[in-house]
Amino acid sequence: MKTIFSGIQPSGMITLGNYIGAMKQFVELQNEYNCYFCIVDQHAITVPQDRLELRKNIRSLAALYLAVGIDPERSTLFIQSEVPAHAQAGWMMQCVSYIGELERMTQFKDKSEGKDAVSSGLLTYPPLMAADILLYSTDLVPVGEDQKQHLELTRDLAERFNKKYNEIFTIPNVRIAKVGARVMSLQDPLKKMSKSDPNKKSFISLLDDPKQIEKKIKSAVTDSEGIVKYDKENKPGVSNLLSMYSILSGKPVDDIEKEYEGMGYGDFKAGLSDVVINTIKPIQDKYYELMESEELDKVLDQGSEKARTVANKMVKKMENAMGLGRKRK
Ligand code: TYM
Repeated sequence: MKTIFSGIQPSGMITLGNYIGAMKQFVELQNEYNCYFCIVDQHAITVPQDRLELRKNIRSLAALYLAVGIDPERSTLFIQSEVPAHAQAGWMMQCVSYIGELERMTQFKDKSEGKDAVSSGLLTYPPLMAADILLYSTDLVPVGEDQKQHLELTRDLAERFNKKYNEIFTIPNVRIAKVGARVMSLQDPLKKMSKSDPNKKSFISLLDDPKQIEKKIKSAVTDSEGIVKYDKENKPGVSNLLSMYSILSGKPVDDIEKEYEGMGYGDFKAGLSDVVINTIKPIQDKYYELMESEELDKVLDQGSEKARTVANKMVKKMENAMGLGRKRK
């Protein structure tokens, strides 16, 4: 069985973008792959976090992973900071990365733009991400479009390490869904939907209640044409809503366009609200049940133990390859 690794930051509300671009794929892939899914809390602290909020978000994300359908019998679910090998390997990968290539990452540029003080962790985030992936000899990394550049760097770093030290890393491939790889903001359809957007109306959280969802979709930016038609270039708002509708309902875009022919955006938005609520409601029911149960801690304990065993072996291989410490088996 080939191996999958992917991670999500517990840095705020988990959005419909995270679900469509990442989590939905994870659930579908777990039958065919040996999967590791990580709550990457060490990545989250590259920008300021409130400690109590962060703790809450870590637990909440763990419950959401299970609530969307990650099965702990088949997949390994764990918290990054509970597996110290990530920080150890992250440091070694920093030492094979060049400052110039890290400064060229668009996510670094976006997140540091206009800020007086930026943590050095924000710059060295990609080598930590590379370590996450390489520790498990990962074959495939399912992510949204925005992570593509980080994956390309991961491959470069792995190849550089293999060439310079020893051939120990599997070179991972990226897997980006054909549709829904970039769910856009409801308020600005030219920007991606993001959990760190200060405008809460721009994203749907997996924990929004039906009233909030209806309101947010109702106020989603469209255009003045009043025709439900997919045209990304000229109708980015409507096209984004159509993609969401199609992915969540399983209906082709053409069929949805026909269904709403001659109707206005009001009816279309009401229909989309129903589709989103029907997707999210069962996830929320399971989520609230899990947050009350002891199962969550058990799953996370087992997950970190399993991850530690695999990751520690790779850290030893990396240390041996680089000549760190003393020679040990
Ligand atoms: P993060 O936490 O920003 O997002 C988690 C996943 O959700 C995807 N995603 C989206 N997909 C479609 N449309 C959107 N609007 C949207 N917003 C987010 C992201 O592409 C991602 O797949 N650096 C990563 C976390 C990470 C990681 C890893 C991922 C750390 N180590 C190793 C894979 C492998 C991040 O910040 O994702």
